[in-house]
Amino acid sequence: SDSTLIDPFGRKIDYLRISVTDRCDFRCTYCMDEDATFLPRRDILSLEEIVQVATSFVALGTRKIRITGGEPLVRKDILFALKHIASLPGLDELTITTNGSQLEKMGQQLFDTGVSRINISLDTLKRERFKELTRRDKLDQVLRGIDTVSALPFKRLKLNAVILGGYNDDEVEDLVEYALQRNLDISFIEEMPLGHISHHDRAKAYVSSDELLDRLQQRWHLSLSERSTGGPSRYYDLAGESSQVGFISPHSHNFCSTCNRVRLTAEGRLLLCLGNEHSKDLKSVLRSHPDNVEALQKSIIDSLVLKPEKHHFNLEEEPQILRFMSATGG
Ligand code: GTP
Ligand code: 5AD
Ligand code: SF4
Repeated sequence: SDSTLIDPFGRKIDYLRISVTDRCDFRCTYCMDEDATFLPRRDILSLEEIVQVATSFVALGTRKIRITGGEPLVRKDILFALKHIASLPGLDELTITTNGSQLEKMGQQLFDTGVSRINISLDTLKRERFKELTRRDKLDQVLRGIDTVSALPFKRLKLNAVILGGYNDDEVEDLVEYALQRNLDISFIEEMPLGHISHHDRAKAYVSSDELLDRLQQRWHLSLSERSTGGPSRYYDLAGESSQVGFISPHSHNFCSTCNRVRLTAEGRLLLCLGNEHSKDLKSVLRSHPDNVEALQKSIIDSLVLKPEKHHFNLEEEPQILRFMSATGG
């Protein structure tokens, strides 16, 4: 494509992830503690500012935008921003990652607004476990949301399951069954050490993707798929099924050499890599040069020299990244 954004390692950046809020109606144990604090309103970008950044990125060749949080669908008037972003000429797809709590209510509107794919977090199918892992008793609400969007003609729906040894690793087969019954894709994710959490010991809860793959091979025939979203997920086809199973393995299979993405945090920092702190403060550019598209585009282009070659996660050490996943949306 005609992307103007190429980093120092030759990677073409044509995918932007935008966290529209750090707030969430859940408190997933691997993401934040119950007493998490959130940014004051004045510190987060307005929806207009978010649309301005998205517009500049698309002008610079960005083809995919994914909206994340926190929980993106708890942000007031989020449909306003989605509508603007979906209509940007040159954008191939607008996607969203959500915990599913608002999908029963908002699924139809999301489809009408032009969202083409939705990723939904689902770590367990057991009500008591869901309560322990998200600290909210909302499994049924999430399952109804999944049913709502499954009945709509979205291009693709994917489930995300963070697998924690001793908590939900015995549900991997059941989660795949659940996905297959609904023609959904599903990705299994190795937990990343972002922020200090008190619920469990991350090193002890580590389960490698390869272990899960071996287990699934006992029941299904999985073969590595050609498909890639240019991202970290490695997808497998299941014989006779339309669903795919993906693995996101920040510890066991480094994917940084093909990284195609950068992230806008809720407070307007352009983060060049999830596993590092290198960032460019776009909020101050937006607020000191209002409506100056050239200044904004120049800041975006200049920021790319900050993109590191790869992340270095180490579960045995104290987390190096103090920011929680909710600040960046994964
Ligand atoms: P696609 O847009 O289809 O590539 O979706 P995705 O699976 O990348 O996105 P999603 O929002 O569903 O995120 C799933 C998991 O992948 C989350 O745990 C993210 O933190 C993780 N992830 C996505 N991109 C990156 C990345 O660049 N680096 C790392 N370390 N993890 C990532
Ligand atoms: N490690 C890996 N994935 C995480 N997510 C949230 N926190 C973490 C973490 N520490 C996942 C959520 C959601 C996606 C955006 O990120 O479950 O599916
Ligand atoms: Fe909320 Fe997602 Fe974090 Fe869970 S992982 S607390 S749903 S932002």
